[in-house]
Amino acid sequence: MDSSELNRLYDFSGKTVVITGGTGVLGGEIACALVGCGANVAILARHPDRAQSILDLMGPRRTQAMASSADVLDLDSLRRAEEAIRQKFGAVDCLLNAAGGNRPEATTGADLRFFDLPADALRYVFDLNLMGTILPTQVFGKMMAEKGEGVILNFSSMSALRPLTRVAAYSAAKAAVSSFTQWLAVHVAQEYSPRIRVNAIAPGFFLTRQNKFMLTEEDTGTLTARGKAIISHTPMARFGVPEDLFGAVLWLLSPASSFVTGIVLPIDGGFSAFAGV
Ligand SMILES: NC(=O)c1ccc[n+]([C@@H]2O[C@H](COP(=O)([O-])OP(=O)(O)OC[C@H]3O[C@@H](n4cnc5c(N)ncnc54)[C@H](OP(=O)(O)O)[C@@H]3O)[C@@H](O)[C@H]2O)c1
Repeated sequence: MDSSELNRLYDFSGKTVVITGGTGVLGGEIACALVGCGANVAILARHPDRAQSILDLMGPRRTQAMASSADVLDLDSLRRAEEAIRQKFGAVDCLLNAAGGNRPEATTGADLRFFDLPADALRYVFDLNLMGTILPTQVFGKMMAEKGEGVILNFSSMSALRPLTRVAAYSAAKAAVSSFTQWLAVHVAQEYSPRIRVNAIAPGFFLTRQNKFMLTEEDTGTLTARGKAIISHTPMARFGVPEDLFGAVLWLLSPASSFVTGIVLPIDGGFSAFAGV
């Protein structure tokens, strides 16, 4: 192999990638990286203004991208988005399920005991992370089954490997995302095509909208006790930045990982390897 062959593996020209959570901190940066590698990118978004600001970041590559209005918990909106994407770009090659997150109301704390966590908040976090991965996969994975090829990449979490304190529903839901990733990898390879691959990444700790309230003090921006505990348990001694995900995401979406399916890849600065001593 020479470097031109290597470059070809990561050339996404002519490939269409759908990203849920493409207006988020991680999904948005990944969307920009993918258009930079030549992909057509469709961002599914609830808020058109947020989607627009990600498209603006793409500069001249913006013509390779579109935003489509959809809620990952609403099948009808996903089906409408699928139709719009098919019309603009044709069949979908890759699906990135990056929508997800936690909620303060589903998080235990000094003022909120586990016994008092409201069922609707728990259910929302569970639904957003698990059903919000399954429903887009049903809609966009069907196209891949018809075509006999495609790649699905889910977003799990460190919290799936060993649950983190306080985030009961989020930990359980992300563990379910990891399980679903493995289940689906086997199912689609056996029932449809071994050229459909399903994997997940398990990011460590990245400061984004979903966790800022737990990791930094709202008024000063300094680290909370939890934020400090995370850094002290991360051998690389920092939070991740979105660019830390690019290599793994591009690898898992590209033919460079053509014999890889059913894995959950940690990208965590060593957090999951560290026993704490
Ligand atoms: N940050 C971390 O440290 C970390 C660690 C491990 C895993 N993760 C996972 O990585 C993924 C990306 O998270 P992030 O950190 O980038 O968080 P973020 O900035 O809060 O982004 C979350 C994204 O999910 C979207 N979303 C939420 N509910 C939705 C719904 N019902 N329908 C459609 N989209 C919805 C949001 O869209 P709106 O703009 O419409 O709100 C946003 O685009 C999530 O699955 C998260 O759980 C993050």
